[in-house]
Amino acid sequence: MKSILWLQSFARLAIAVTSSQIPLQGAGSNSEFTVFQSHVSPDHSIRIKRQNATLCDTPVDQYTGWLDISHKHFFFWYFKSEAATKDSESEPLALWLTGGPGGSSMLGMLQELGPCLINDYGNGTVYNPYGWNKETALIFVDQPAGVGFSYVDEGEPLPGDSFAAAADMHLFLQLFVSQVFPEHLEGPLVITGESYAGHYLPALGAQIVSQNALFPNRPKVPLKSVAIGNGYVVPSATTYGYWETLCTTNPGVDKPVFNETRCDIMATNLPRCLELSEVCYNHPDPVICAAALKFCGDGVINYYDGESGKGGRNRFDITAPCDIDQFCYANTKLLQDYLNLSSSFAALSIPKEVKEFIAGSEAVEAAFFLTNDLGISLIPQIQYLLASQIDILIYQGNLDLACNTAGAKRWTANLAWKGQAAFTSLDLKPWKSVKDEKEVKVGMFKEVNVKMVDGDDKKTRFAFVTIDGSGHMVPQDQPEVALDMLHRWLNGKSFD
Ligand SMILES: *[C@@H]1O[C@H](CO)[C@@H](O)[C@H](O)[C@H]1NC(C)=O
Ligand SMILES: *[C@@H]1O[C@H](CO)[C@@H](O)[C@H](O)[C@H]1NC(C)=O
Ligand SMILES: *[C@@H]1O[C@H](CO)[C@@H](O)[C@H](O)[C@H]1NC(C)=O
Ligand SMILES: *[C@@H]1O[C@H](CO)[C@@H](O)[C@H](O)[C@H]1NC(C)=O
Repeated sequence: MKSILWLQSFARLAIAVTSSQIPLQGAGSNSEFTVFQSHVSPDHSIRIKRQNATLCDTPVDQYTGWLDISHKHFFFWYFKSEAATKDSESEPLALWLTGGPGGSSMLGMLQELGPCLINDYGNGTVYNPYGWNKETALIFVDQPAGVGFSYVDEGEPLPGDSFAAAADMHLFLQLFVSQVFPEHLEGPLVITGESYAGHYLPALGAQIVSQNALFPNRPKVPLKSVAIGNGYVVPSATTYGYWETLCTTNPGVDKPVFNETRCDIMATNLPRCLELSEVCYNHPDPVICAAALKFCGDGVINYYDGESGKGGRNRFDITAPCDIDQFCYANTKLLQDYLNLSSSFAALSIPKEVKEFIAGSEAVEAAFFLTNDLGISLIPQIQYLLASQIDILIYQGNLDLACNTAGAKRWTANLAWKGQAAFTSLDLKPWKSVKDEKEVKVGMFKEVNVKMVDGDDKKTRFAFVTIDGSGHMVPQDQPEVALDMLHRWLNGKSFD
């Protein structure tokens, strides 16, 4: 079982239990957590404390803590926005989830889009001028339970699929926006992330929409949109895209990565691989899906992935070297070292159950393998979200192989929904953004805005956006462009 997708009873000390919003002040020892007990369930609470700028260099207010759901404990790091909001307005909020399965969202925070980024030595952070909290308040959550600083009580099982993870994250958001930071109660909320979050986010979105509808008297989670970066939404589409990514110049390379010999073998194997994947979607039997995974692995994927790893090929950017195993980017090791320092543990008041900080949880990954979560397509959840008037942005760094643009083009075109014909009738058009003070073409886009509900004029936005010169991690590779993209998405502005 090789890593695939890096894309890839707590000791309650002297804590005050409160049920209304109280000022969260001070930082320091364990006793400074404030606890918010859920009004919905006696089993749910959030313990939270304020952080000063020592660990993460940013001028905005920041808070860390855990959501406790019986035996599961979810770590979060929350930042206020640098953008001013009017007193009368609800404040926008973005949730970021890193993929994996098993990847800590601290990776997204300290390596890509957080208010601060890991420094060159792994012993501190630097302010990020392109942090996504320029636009919106931001929360990073380590999930599923067992990932990063999140944990389960001893002897308890880990969540094993995207739907179990989604149920927990929904409870988290519900408590967070209704009781801890009610300035977010009216949203708008965007849930975003990359890689395996292409599984997490559709499942979470669908859970939010259905729970909002099923329990009208409970606090609603104000979901407005889902933004998926280089997402693992439809596994077979990702595999299909290997040929185009490696055997053509379409990703934006001068010459294809693979020679004709390899491309010919891959092309020969692709139809059968896709056929098997289709059977797996329709009959999600672990044996059938394992057979599909093996055939696609041996016949297509491993020609590249088998040569990836430290000193070899990089699955997240076909033009970049791979410096460390699994994640490829040296920064991931640095941020892992940083969060694992005893000074970081002290500032975050990490409980004794968490022994060390590891950027990727193998145990969670293994649990997801067991349930075949990696083999399924999340198309039904995407269709449900669109039908429920949730806007969806699919954005893609073009140099990525792990969750490639060619595959995303395929599944977005094949997606059956009211906007499909209009979407496929459009050609991709270039979009421009300012880079190094010059306006240049930064990628391609198309989007449709479709009335989804009879008698309701609200239009639902479905946009597909590509970013040139970027691998899997768009905010890391093209930070300026990524922030502009977020700005346009959150403000309803076109990419034209
Ligand atoms: C981080 O490491 C660098 C290089 O070793 C050193 O110069 C710097 O003082 C260190 N910073 C902190 C905060 O320890
Ligand atoms: C094609 O590429 C593979 C892997 O790099 C190499 O082993 C093989 O010799 C190449 N074939 C030709 C005809 O260049
Ligand atoms: C920040 O908080 C830490 C404890 O987490 C404390 O040791 C440090 O003195 C604080 N720094 C400032 C500038 O307040
Ligand atoms: C974290 O730090 C501890 C203690 O210094 C060390 O034993 C452990 O190997 C470190 N873990 C990682 C993932 O670096």
